[in-house]
Amino acid sequence: MLPPIVTTIAEVRRVVADVRATDRTIGFVPTMGALHEGHAALVRAARARSGFVVVSIFVNPLQFGPKEDFAKYPRTLEADQKLCGYAGADLIFAPGVEEMYPANAVTFVDVGKLGDHLCGATRPGHFRGVCTVVLKLFNIVQPDTAHFGAKDYQQARILSQMVRDLNVPVEVSVESTVREPDGLALSSRNRYLSAADRALAPRIQQSLQAVRLRALAGEIDVARLESSIGAELSAIPGARVDYARVVDAESLQPLMRLDRPAVAAVAVFLGTTRLIDNITILS
Ligand code: PAF
Repeated sequence: MLPPIVTTIAEVRRVVADVRATDRTIGFVPTMGALHEGHAALVRAARARSGFVVVSIFVNPLQFGPKEDFAKYPRTLEADQKLCGYAGADLIFAPGVEEMYPANAVTFVDVGKLGDHLCGATRPGHFRGVCTVVLKLFNIVQPDTAHFGAKDYQQARILSQMVRDLNVPVEVSVESTVREPDGLALSSRNRYLSAADRALAPRIQQSLQAVRLRALAGEIDVARLESSIGAELSAIPGARVDYARVVDAESLQPLMRLDRPAVAAVAVFLGTTRLIDNITILS
């Protein structure tokens, strides 16, 4: 069944109030649309835990830099609605920009130093935009649980911190990355890859697997681990490495030695398409 699409905050609030009156819990999957099987997995995870599942579809201008792909970000509402239907969503909230950001809004969520590294270093303001829209969506939908993908490691970490710091009564659940059979992490941006770049893209995950093996074999010098991923990624024809870092899994701060839980995270341009991925190095 196709879940209905509502576009106003008042309508979502009305539906959510009716659902609450029947004692059902609400699971929430915030998205920017262009949905793929990774999103379907988030909806299924929400379905498994909640009595009612809301998916939001909103391409959030606040998290795109001036030179980024906001205008050309794929908008595929009809296909998204079908995917939400077969994955088990009950309602889609797809507001316009004016509904989410009235012209007189001046309040934003500042994410502090968790946003300084990795994607935050090359996308200034990105996580401020993500946190602001997600907090607004939480206030609109008032879910019990919200589901995010582990591919966006820094995003999931920052949002978990935000709900803790601001006492937001929502449980953040982080779901495993869904991959193509060749290892490429699913992403709405994969559709932009040329055939040649698509064939090369699995090397991103392979470089992360390789650095994990080096760490398992006993390498604890983080600079050496980072330069080995950097070298593998740079060897991909036409690739431009945005970052290749091994960071503290909790604080996301740089490390010298592998002496605590750590994550390797990378962002790589293949052509003009920027792809991210990560792997747990030490848990
Ligand atoms: O991961 C995304 O698609 C977006 O960053 C999110 C969480 C929906 C906020 O716009």
